[in-house]
Amino acid sequence: MSHKNSRIAILNIFVLVTTLTALSLPSVAQATGEAVHYNSQDKLFRLDGAGVSYVFGVNERGELQPVYWGQRLGEKDALPAAHSMMEVASFDLSTTTTPQEFSGWGAGLFVEPSLKITFPDGNRDLVLHYVSHAIHGNVLEVTLKDISREVFVNLRYEVDTATGVLGRSATIENRTKDPLVVEQAAAAAWTLPRAPDYMLSYLTGRWGAEFSLQREKIGPGQRVLESRRGSSGHQNNPWFAVSRGATQEETGDVWFGALAWSGSWRITVEQTQVQDVRITGGYNPFDFGYHLAPGEKLGTPVFYAGYTHSGMGEASRLMHRFELAQIAPQAPRPKVRPIIYNSWEATEMNVDEPGQVALAEKAASIGVERFVMDDGWFGQRKDDHAGLGDWYVNPQKFPHGLKQLIDRVHGFGMDFGLWVEPEMVNPDSDLYRKHPDWAINFTGRPRTLGRNQLVLNLARPDVREYVYTFLDKILTDNQIAFLKWDYNRNWSEPGWPAVAPEEQRKIYVKYVQNLYSILDELRAKHPGVEIESCSGGGGRVDLGILSHTDEVWTSDNTDPFDRLSIQHGFTQAYAPEFMMAWVTDSPHWLNGRATSIEYRFLSSMQGSLGVGANLNRWQPADFAAAKSMITAYKDVRETVQHGLLYRLISPLNGSEASATESVSQDGNQAVVFAFLHSSEFANPFPTLYLQGLDPQANYRIDLLYGKQFTPGPATATGAYWMSHGTDLALRGDYQAASFKLTRIR
Ligand code: DGJ
Repeated sequence: MSHKNSRIAILNIFVLVTTLTALSLPSVAQATGEAVHYNSQDKLFRLDGAGVSYVFGVNERGELQPVYWGQRLGEKDALPAAHSMMEVASFDLSTTTTPQEFSGWGAGLFVEPSLKITFPDGNRDLVLHYVSHAIHGNVLEVTLKDISREVFVNLRYEVDTATGVLGRSATIENRTKDPLVVEQAAAAAWTLPRAPDYMLSYLTGRWGAEFSLQREKIGPGQRVLESRRGSSGHQNNPWFAVSRGATQEETGDVWFGALAWSGSWRITVEQTQVQDVRITGGYNPFDFGYHLAPGEKLGTPVFYAGYTHSGMGEASRLMHRFELAQIAPQAPRPKVRPIIYNSWEATEMNVDEPGQVALAEKAASIGVERFVMDDGWFGQRKDDHAGLGDWYVNPQKFPHGLKQLIDRVHGFGMDFGLWVEPEMVNPDSDLYRKHPDWAINFTGRPRTLGRNQLVLNLARPDVREYVYTFLDKILTDNQIAFLKWDYNRNWSEPGWPAVAPEEQRKIYVKYVQNLYSILDELRAKHPGVEIESCSGGGGRVDLGILSHTDEVWTSDNTDPFDRLSIQHGFTQAYAPEFMMAWVTDSPHWLNGRATSIEYRFLSSMQGSLGVGANLNRWQPADFAAAKSMITAYKDVRETVQHGLLYRLISPLNGSEASATESVSQDGNQAVVFAFLHSSEFANPFPTLYLQGLDPQANYRIDLLYGKQFTPGPATATGAYWMSHGTDLALRGDYQAASFKLTRIR
């Protein structure tokens, strides 16, 4: 093809795509009111949920080709059948310019493939074509097959009709007579409507600085978000949002998604040479290589994604709603999180019975509902050099076992939680001395320590059995309501020498599957027990772990000011209910920053409230302030944890101020938290214009803490609070205020 012809071809593609987006083709009956349906005439699949339609079809080559993803279409709106794109040049063939729902690497594909396979004869060509499909309620399953080999891929689509969030995953099945190696397996590839002005939002971080929100223009090439660490990791979180044009917090198109996987993962955001934007996510192909025997299957994680026309704020609210109703183990109606006291910052590993009882008594006096003993209670644990793996109660620290402490905690009216780090072992432990081969390792190679510990290979059946058995015993022998499940390092030397060389890389999949199955089995046997996922703070937060645990430890950084931006990032993707936030001491150990106890409480009250301060150092005024804040929190926590979150002012980019508002599901209560970093030039605190209220309804304002700038009406309409707004009297450094609105019937 000449270059002149190539330009014509590019124009043709643009004409086709514009036509696709404008939907001006003649009407062909499409929707029938059901969530999923198939138009056999045009070979189009359409999934509808809430305000979203998602359409793809089988093109003339037999590939699955995306057709539309965006605002919900009319029932009778016509959609063109899928047609492959033209060859742009001899360098950009139709096989690469035509977007696919799930592409095999083969046949001239230069963009990111969904699946890459090596066959034992050296063939690495895989071309997947449609074979059949089945619809069951909100679930669509489409079977693809390689054009000549007996490799099948089952694609699963499930639409959540309440939010329009789609869950996509794939199962790869080897029906050939020989083993093959899956080198790369995505859960899904998402294709956006073609547009030149997309912005990508994503979350990065490190220990103590998780959930940092990044935003950048999507340009040609790839932006890779990933973890090669064996767990979801602090460095990137498996979430993305892509906004188009002038999208703002509450307006504009946003496509967003999250991968439900707690092992190594990768999401590739790619703008192709013909300016298609695609997002492909699943297992991280780095060091992957899943040996699939004849008859064997490999399932991928689920990649969830949604769309909204109402900005980043609505994208988060849809995610939150979806997570609470569909992902959380207690879905569809998770209980509100109890207020926790955790002893870690007060005692570190110096735990003993009298010390814990003293803290528990003080915690109960301010209204705490759950007392959690952290690290240090087991084995020969004096510091982080020893003990992990030996899960017996340390007899010097707890001569009466745990029972006496637990009874005292119950006597104070709280339930009891316990810290564990089940997947780890210190070389200085009885377990390691007995089973050095249980740690992840390469034979004959050094084993890199992190915090003086190694990772147990949970992929091994004997390790899985050991971990399950000791946890089951702890929960059976003691009245424990809660486990804080910690995980304090990433993998190194990820070997599994006990199995055949070709099986060893299965560790990336089997480890995480066993982790999930242990959590599920424990929950099934001990249904009352709740679990927190912690990994040195927020190093293992993803929709996979959140479907097996009830909450996560957001960050070891409990500085209430730093937390404002961490929480801002966290809640882009995850519901405030999951976000544990402790009030700790001032000046803060990490930054040396001094803040008032009220500021610390209001920062933490934006999530699931906990207290982690050394209560032995508190003065009567601290106890009084804490008690009153906890009482206030109990009144608004349902709204904070399960309500609709509006980010009124972002704390990012050096902002002087920040504010959030949560509106209860029933619309009867709204609560606002506002923070001032430091006053400059006597600037007034920005007027807060509320959101999400009923403009006609009347709401009464009550200050939880702080003052209004000039007292306004005690009661006014939603229209007043949203359009006139309210001014708070915030002045000085690290100041905070909070108020609630109650709907008057
Ligand atoms: C890391 C956690 O994030 C902390 O909260 C604490 O539990 C320590 N581990 C204990 O070792």
